[in-house]
Amino acid sequence: MSHATDEIRRRVETLRADLDDHNYRYYVLDDPRVTDSEYDRQFRELQQLEQDYPELASPDSPTQRVGSPVETSFETVTHRLPMLSLDNAFSDEEMRDFDRRVRERLGTDDDVEYVCEPKLDGLAVSLHYENGSLTLAATRGDGYSGEDITANIRTIRSVPLTLRGERVPAMVEVRGEVYMPKDGFEQLNRRLAEQGEKTFVNPRNAAAGSLRQKQSRVTARRPLEMCAYSLAVTDERLLPETQWDALQLAREWGFRINPEMRRATGVDACLEAYSDLMNKRADLPYEIDGIVFKVNRLDQQQALGFVSRAPRWAIAHKFPAQEEMTVIEDVEFQVGRTGAVTPVARLKPVFVGGVTVSNATLHNMDEIRRLDVHIGDTVFVRRAGDVIPQVVKVVPERRPDGAPSVTLPTTCPVCDSDVIQIEGEAVARCSGGLYCPAQRKEAIRHYASRKAMDIEGLGDKLIEVLVDQDLVQTVADLYRLDASTLARLDRMGPKSAANLVEAIDRSRTPALWRFLYALGIREVGEATAKGLASYFGSLDAIAEADDEALQAVPDVGPIVAGHVRSFFDQSHNRDTLAALAEAGVHWQPETIVRPEKQPLSGQTWVLTGTLSTLTRDEAKERLERLGAKVAGSVSKKTACVVAGEAAGSKLTKAEQLGVSVLAEDGLLSLFREHGVDE
Ligand code: IVH
Repeated sequence: MSHATDEIRRRVETLRADLDDHNYRYYVLDDPRVTDSEYDRQFRELQQLEQDYPELASPDSPTQRVGSPVETSFETVTHRLPMLSLDNAFSDEEMRDFDRRVRERLGTDDDVEYVCEPKLDGLAVSLHYENGSLTLAATRGDGYSGEDITANIRTIRSVPLTLRGERVPAMVEVRGEVYMPKDGFEQLNRRLAEQGEKTFVNPRNAAAGSLRQKQSRVTARRPLEMCAYSLAVTDERLLPETQWDALQLAREWGFRINPEMRRATGVDACLEAYSDLMNKRADLPYEIDGIVFKVNRLDQQQALGFVSRAPRWAIAHKFPAQEEMTVIEDVEFQVGRTGAVTPVARLKPVFVGGVTVSNATLHNMDEIRRLDVHIGDTVFVRRAGDVIPQVVKVVPERRPDGAPSVTLPTTCPVCDSDVIQIEGEAVARCSGGLYCPAQRKEAIRHYASRKAMDIEGLGDKLIEVLVDQDLVQTVADLYRLDASTLARLDRMGPKSAANLVEAIDRSRTPALWRFLYALGIREVGEATAKGLASYFGSLDAIAEADDEALQAVPDVGPIVAGHVRSFFDQSHNRDTLAALAEAGVHWQPETIVRPEKQPLSGQTWVLTGTLSTLTRDEAKERLERLGAKVAGSVSKKTACVVAGEAAGSKLTKAEQLGVSVLAEDGLLSLFREHGVDE
């Protein structure tokens, strides 16, 4: 193995500094300056050099963020200065008491300046830097001693491995909060649920569980962030004069500090900051459980000192809790506007997230099985922001004897039609369609909409009234409405009633595809309706087509074919169609056109990286000739990603989502196979 030349050493240094810079801009300043692919390219170059020249390895290298598969044990660490907790204020009154005590102790009548910091809902950590390098990271533990979690902390991108800037002291301890942003939490839980693993109740538990991993490689894959909130140095003279300036300094060193932080003079300004932040709470990308007020001047903090386990110069003003325990008294099934049969937990009313909650959705049967919900269970209910209340966890120890389990009804609780569950889909549905009152309003709204039968003047409000007053049960009843009945309704004059009757009348002779689309068969959108209409030419032919015949239509796969079949198999739907025909609705005949079914129709493909034998535009055009759509970003619905040379984040995303990936030669043989190779 060759030795690293000076040139290579310099290149490694430059790459490390550049990558650190990109990280800093991205995670601390929220202002990235390079594309993902440029970052990836530099990252891979550094990885390669470190692999070729192991003597250049360094634990502070940005490449070390990926963690290690080796299991570590968490050694006990004694804190040099104890990690204290905060007193709480639960009301404005308690806040005023706190401020009064501060001013009394400081012997001043003047307003005191406070720093108002969001109280991040995560875990406190202490980080030690010696000569600018991260040497130790510890949890709070009991406040006096915690655990050494250095290996895991190193994987968090917003924690600097080396401090930046000029004013770096020989020794410094930085304290802050490690937390998991809301979207990362949702993604992690989705991933865990998909893998059949236990999910986390809230972002805080997810952060704690992620930091407690024995393999730092696992922590590295968890979306953790850190914000600094205090500094301690051995030589106090190195510190600025205020908490505010101390945190600005931390930012210069490379720490993220909370962007919502602000200063407030006097208690009234603090209370205003409290209500401002509370209003913002739901929109913040991370969870907070209150606001921390700290006396800004460090000399005043010193003068105030500590009492038992909390500083006299700080207080936490809490927000309403977002999680409470209650009991599931029953589980009922509701039919939504699209026929989805959804289990809903009836709860013993509980005050959570600022409101009294007595219902929570359980989503579907998979969720019930995952949570193992029984009727009578004690559960954790969570309501964050305006999000619908969720049951997040059952407390199995509190399950009463003989608590009944929850079963999916076989027939619709509203219309008694069969409840069907398509394989691979979590949602169960009422097959009643137009017949089911729960679905009727939505069905009528869709039937009348512009792209469907285009009945002007038949709006949502009116549909509500018509269905509620039993004037309309199915769409066929629309054609029996007369102007005098309509004119008697609220906010309807004789003129608008007459106009509506005329509009309904005009809809009696639609194009076949419009009529088909208007029926609201699941997954039969405008394009599919057009395809079916021109392929079969009449409604009877579609109603009689079997699965195979349906799937011969471009864009129709097994799922759509299944929906079409089950629609026409329901006798209620056939009755409605007969009633429509009787009311004089007759579609215009359609010329039959039977295009060859394209091999990739209905699929979305993504191209990434550089292809060597053809341009992206050529590849795109050929894929489109095979019926595929070509999109710019990868999602779960992507059928395939074509990865050329130096493919970047799209490839990574495809791998994360389990989307199939095809290399260039695979693409070329696909083209050859279908004769689009030139
Ligand atoms: S200051 C002596 N500032 O709240 C000062 N704590 O109840 C102690 N926390 O363990 C901490 N955000 O985990 C402080 N901006 C903030 C905070 C914060 C969250 C947490 C921290 C601490 C707990 C104290």
